[in-house]
Amino acid sequence: MAIPQSFIQELIARADIVEIVGRYVQLKKGGANFMGLCPFHGEKSPSFSVSPTKQFYHCFGCGAHGNAIGFLMEHGGMGFVEAVHDLAGQYGLQVPEDDASPAERARAASQREKQATLTDVLEKAGEAYRKLLRQSPRAIEYFKGRGVSGETAKAFGLGYAPEGWRTLAGIFPDYADPLLAESGLVITGEDGEDKRYDRFRDRVMFPIRNVKGECIGFGGRVLGDEKPKYLNSPETPVFSKGQELYGLFEARSALRDKGYVLVTEGYMDVVALAQLGFPNAVATLGTACTADHVRKMFRFTDAVVFSFDGDAAGRRAARKALEATLPFATDTRSAKFLFLPAEHDPDSFIREHGEAAFARFVSEATPLSRFMVEVAREGCDLDTAEGRALLASHARPLWSALPAGALKHQMLAEFAELIQLDSRELSGLWESAAAPRYPGRNAPPAPPRGDDPGPYEEMPWDAREHEGWSPAPSGGQRRFEPGGKRFGRKGQSGAPPGPRGRVQPLSRADVAVRLLLSNPAEWEALSHEQHELLCALPAPHGQLFGWLESQVHEHGLQPWAALREGLRGHECEALAQRLMADAAVDRPDDEAAARDTQAEQRAELHNVLDFMLDEALKAQQTATLAQVGSDPQALERYKALEQRRVALRLRLRRSGTD
Ligand code: UTP
Ligand code: MN
Repeated sequence: MAIPQSFIQELIARADIVEIVGRYVQLKKGGANFMGLCPFHGEKSPSFSVSPTKQFYHCFGCGAHGNAIGFLMEHGGMGFVEAVHDLAGQYGLQVPEDDASPAERARAASQREKQATLTDVLEKAGEAYRKLLRQSPRAIEYFKGRGVSGETAKAFGLGYAPEGWRTLAGIFPDYADPLLAESGLVITGEDGEDKRYDRFRDRVMFPIRNVKGECIGFGGRVLGDEKPKYLNSPETPVFSKGQELYGLFEARSALRDKGYVLVTEGYMDVVALAQLGFPNAVATLGTACTADHVRKMFRFTDAVVFSFDGDAAGRRAARKALEATLPFATDTRSAKFLFLPAEHDPDSFIREHGEAAFARFVSEATPLSRFMVEVAREGCDLDTAEGRALLASHARPLWSALPAGALKHQMLAEFAELIQLDSRELSGLWESAAAPRYPGRNAPPAPPRGDDPGPYEEMPWDAREHEGWSPAPSGGQRRFEPGGKRFGRKGQSGAPPGPRGRVQPLSRADVAVRLLLSNPAEWEALSHEQHELLCALPAPHGQLFGWLESQVHEHGLQPWAALREGLRGHECEALAQRLMADAAVDRPDDEAAARDTQAEQRAELHNVLDFMLDEALKAQQTATLAQVGSDPQALERYKALEQRRVALRLRLRRSGTD
């Protein structure tokens, strides 16, 4: 789907970079150029210049530079194509897409249109909820009771969804419009009309905005103690929990003033902190912090402070955040981990102990380097060689995830001292041939094909194998084992993988089918991109996923036993039967084991999906490479794809050595 170069040039000529940048950065004229505070790194005096004549921005502090499209990509978090369309839209231009088939073009256009319409629908609902808040003394009382001022409520666009099943029918003339269901505002039952009702009822509403300020979803809280306390919008084409941070849009300018972002766990924490001296707070949306979250935050600031409860759950969440952050911990960035007393979240803490006490906690937060060591030495008796070796094995994946730089060197020295090896020995051990190899972030793009087997050569999921699955080489990490404890026969738990050929090879698509049919709930938790990836697989797998999507859509979540009934006579039945033949035998009996299995399977699923996504990105890269000669932007696109792949591999490596 290439966009003709001539159009890009016209677009850049038409666009005014001062205006585009000026929407996000306060600019002041200084000579021929405009100057402002750089949005790409934290700074107190302006070194960011925008040239109206050259139509370029350049930061003398951090070296960031580019044109209007580049700015929208880097700062607005858009992809290339998205940035072009955004810009074209602003200047009323139609983007021609020359070598796309008419069907492809229509699909792309309808997808963009759909996303725009979805945010419009959500925005309209948000407006209505705001108005309804003003009419509800009970909801106003609730916010007042929690110390939220009118000004804060306005800044965050807080609202109220009243009792009653069809409040939105009074807002949207066509309540049966499928967009209402797609946006997650309305829940539909099996047979349409008579089972259609508002998702959010009698809840105070927190609109979730993307970095462009568009409304992409909601969190709704009950006013009392009912369950669930918070209800969130489902994953939709415009909303993905694993990528969005509540409050990031609202916090943008404060991030620059404060110089860091404060990451909390709750909507109310963000709202309360904004009012109590920390307008730089954001929150993950009821999920663990992901690499996508971290990448996004580092686009706006160089320093991140994570806040967690001081209990075991908080430690676990912190550990996940650490893992998500490591690949981004370059020498110019900082990440810290703050642990509050167990009974507190930031909102309650600051209300009880005040702003100064909280500020002290922030300034005394544990730096990443120290937390990394704490995590690695957990459960290790450093008085014994075994304990030190265990520490080494914990530390290795953490250390390996760090990008090259001075911090990484220092951490090597620190771990070496604890392990009682010298740095050289330890780096020999950790960088030995047996370790997975990954290109660094700045490594030149690898050739799309060639002799180099690529970064996955030591990984159990071999990227070179498109079709077959084979067990890990001995000594490798065990991942997904047909015949192993997850889907194998009883009594074989933990048995080493059989020799090649004894197990029927499973493709990744097979594995994804197995995992999703055994845990259909996972389907709902996948991102839009992952859904598309799976549904686009060649038959019969893609078909099966398309079918699963429609089942979940029409009938909600069902266990495999029920799904199996629905599959009778379907063209994918044989595939499902083959893959699910012995899955039923394996249900663990007790609840805890079931939960463990589920968590493991979720990890497997994401592992497989990451590999599949990587394959897809690789194919896109190959296609992009072919355009390099004729399209000057192609190399940039190639690099963007490479960056995504590097991030993916880092994630894979972590899960592979967990
Ligand atoms: P908490 O249970 O810690 O609530 O959930 P909180 O943020 O302190 O809420 P208040 O102070 O009682 O209002 C933290 C976050 O987890 C998600 C929400 O994003 C919430 O902000 N969550 C929690 C849900 O999505 N659903 C729930 O039922 C509970
Ligand atoms: Mn709270």
